[in-house]
Amino acid sequence: MTNQMTPTMDEQARAILRGNDRGGYTVPTAGLYPYQWNWDSAFAAWGFATFDVARAWVEIETLLTGQWDNGMVPHILFHRPDPGYFPGPDVWGGVGPVPSSGISQPPVAASFARRVYDIDPDASREALARIFPRLKAWHQWFMDWRLDQGAVCITHPWEAGRDNTPDWDGAMAGIDPVGVGDYTRRDTSHVDPAMRPTKYDYDRYIWLVQLGRRLNWDEAALLEENPFRVADPTMTFTLLRAQRDLAALGRALGEDVSSIDVAIQELEAGAETLWNPDLACYDARDVRSGKWAGCVSNASFLNWYAGIDHPGMVAQYDRITSICKYPVPSHDPSSDRFDAKRYWRGPTWGIMNALIGLGLEECGHTDRAEALRKTTGELIRDHGFAEYFDPLTGHAAGGGTFTWTAAVWLGWTSPTRPKGAS
Ligand code: DGY
Repeated sequence: MTNQMTPTMDEQARAILRGNDRGGYTVPTAGLYPYQWNWDSAFAAWGFATFDVARAWVEIETLLTGQWDNGMVPHILFHRPDPGYFPGPDVWGGVGPVPSSGISQPPVAASFARRVYDIDPDASREALARIFPRLKAWHQWFMDWRLDQGAVCITHPWEAGRDNTPDWDGAMAGIDPVGVGDYTRRDTSHVDPAMRPTKYDYDRYIWLVQLGRRLNWDEAALLEENPFRVADPTMTFTLLRAQRDLAALGRALGEDVSSIDVAIQELEAGAETLWNPDLACYDARDVRSGKWAGCVSNASFLNWYAGIDHPGMVAQYDRITSICKYPVPSHDPSSDRFDAKRYWRGPTWGIMNALIGLGLEECGHTDRAEALRKTTGELIRDHGFAEYFDPLTGHAAGGGTFTWTAAVWLGWTSPTRPKGAS
């Protein structure tokens, strides 16, 4: 007899995806993030694919309707106005076919498209053929505009998805947000301000948006004028992985993937320029000042996900997991900049754990991968489908009923996950 009072974890996760579905796209969580976010949607597709493959493809196809003429796929698509969010479409002034922001986000869509395809290739072929050229053009936009020595750069902290990580502290200090003017934040009315970026950060976020808008989001002009340009492990490792996945999908479709193979080699070389020998870790590199961030972050550990097995990273991983109960923290707990609840300055994120765990497993670090899957599953079961978690206590933080945490449950930690999902 089933217990009618308590839905299973799978049922709860599916209900979150359906509840956050706005018709063709899924919001990360109602209130705090009321639009379609780029990498959140790719995770949503993974979650949907575990029970509705057709809906998974719709999520990715809707995201790609926002693609700009230059190939860029924006980080937010403002399909319908919502006064509960700042900065909205009027502040960004995106120049694409759908009102949007002017920056991109970690390109994980091709990688999750591959997982959706693997779950049901026959049902997926037509959608895949439609999106393949768009994904290829988006990846090429990164290659054309964002490389520094082969590593992928961000032009705004929001672009890496890791908004207030200490990785950007040096580059942010180089910005004087003069003339930013008055504005009203909305995020701190939805979530405890102690879990969100500070006003110091927000002034610089908005100043950078105003700069991009003034330059009409022209990448050549931004390359000249934007003081914020950081070669980032998140972008470099996710794009390298996404290019590998896109090449595999292209081969399945019988496409010519030789240009993608060339890009993979360039990105492999670029990834090595992120190795900070003094830190003995992959690190962010400020292209303007030439300085290292000096940060062991959860993005540092995406190397395995990108197919790079570095013995130094295994040592770092074992050190970090030995000093915190619920890894992987977004910043090293032994650093004086660690802040257990403040967004990307300490908390553990299910999505990053999933990418790290998938990589560990593929590189043969099976015990570490299984241990991470287990602790992440416990975090979600014991503390809910939160946006992120305190890595020391496990307590939920940020927004609740979160789409990508539900997706991570369904695709990676649930005992019922379908073959091909992870
Ligand atoms: C926010 O509004 O906090 C987002 O992270 C921007 O993408």
